[in-house]
Amino acid sequence: MKTIIAIGVFLASLAAGASPAEPPLKDVFAKHFLIGAAVNTAQVSSEDRPDTRLLKRHFNSITPENSMKWGSIHPQPDQYDFSEADRYVSFGEKNGMVVIGHTLVWHSQTPGWVFKDADGKSATREFLLARMEKHIRTVVGRYKGRIRGWDVVNEALDDNGELRQSRWLKIIGDDYIVKAFEFAHAADPDAELYYNDYSLEDSARRNGAVALIRTLQAKGVKVSGIGTQTHAKMDWPTPKMVEDTITAFGALGVKVMITELDVDVLPAATSNLGADISLRIESNPKLNPYAAGFPEAGQAALARRYAEFFALYVKHSDIVDRVTFWGITDGESWLNNWPVHGRSNHPLLFDRGGKPKPAYSSVIRTVPNPD
Ligand code: GLA
Repeated sequence: MKTIIAIGVFLASLAAGASPAEPPLKDVFAKHFLIGAAVNTAQVSSEDRPDTRLLKRHFNSITPENSMKWGSIHPQPDQYDFSEADRYVSFGEKNGMVVIGHTLVWHSQTPGWVFKDADGKSATREFLLARMEKHIRTVVGRYKGRIRGWDVVNEALDDNGELRQSRWLKIIGDDYIVKAFEFAHAADPDAELYYNDYSLEDSARRNGAVALIRTLQAKGVKVSGIGTQTHAKMDWPTPKMVEDTITAFGALGVKVMITELDVDVLPAATSNLGADISLRIESNPKLNPYAAGFPEAGQAALARRYAEFFALYVKHSDIVDRVTFWGITDGESWLNNWPVHGRSNHPLLFDRGGKPKPAYSSVIRTVPNPD
């Protein structure tokens, strides 16, 4: 009888897209932090895609890859399109996940009309502030009480740690960030509000983020956390940079979220360490060495790399609130197409067939006694 039950459990777990020896990440790290994934609309529109099954088994938080960005949710001045975002939020609720909003104010994936008035002239400060306020009120207001936290402003810093000269800054002025947070707080006073950026492990950017958050705090603005994207490479950032970043942000009294984790295993196509998604570089076979598969040595190196990160996240789990991967399986990662189009990258814990990689095992081993 016991054997029959055991076989039944085994078959049920296979049907759920997992082997019994594959404990859910969200359970392994339940005492430490949330485990999130960025999701696309196809993944939240079906219950039985293989990657959706992985999502439900391993992750307890989701971030929308694109559906809440300005260009998707507010494509024209008088037109909002909530269809994909609604599906995203409902999926998260139905599956008991912590739902994140991404992102309200960003220089990228924001239509050009946002910065122009009705006559096509550059908007004034007042005009753009009013437009920003209405956008935030409409979007945050629609999901009030259903989104745990919002990436209110994304990527406001330059590599030197100064504020990026975005159109938001040029038209409104430095206080556009304060305003965005205030508008978001007014629209949903209970929502957590985050500042999110890339390469914050670099000291100039990290110091810039610390200064920015201090400025917001000094003005009495509610900032709940900082999201460090952590689009990592095999040799960047170093463990020390990761740890220094977590502790520097923790010292501000805010939560720290790892918001877009992946590890690019391909040869660098550029010396640029950032995640500027407008970057495009010509393809070339030398830049795509693992098109036929990722060799064992690479898998082992990636496993060590992920273990370094997770050992630090676990060590600082009093500060780290969530670790979100930018994708579920390698096949759908943005890194197959950025900054070079059409490569085979292997940056996540699950391979193209949805199988856990050695990096998955090394990550779960960073918790000494999972029970
Ligand atoms: C940035 C953004 C994300 C996403 C990634 C790349 O990091 O914050 O929304 O666009 O780039 O896909």
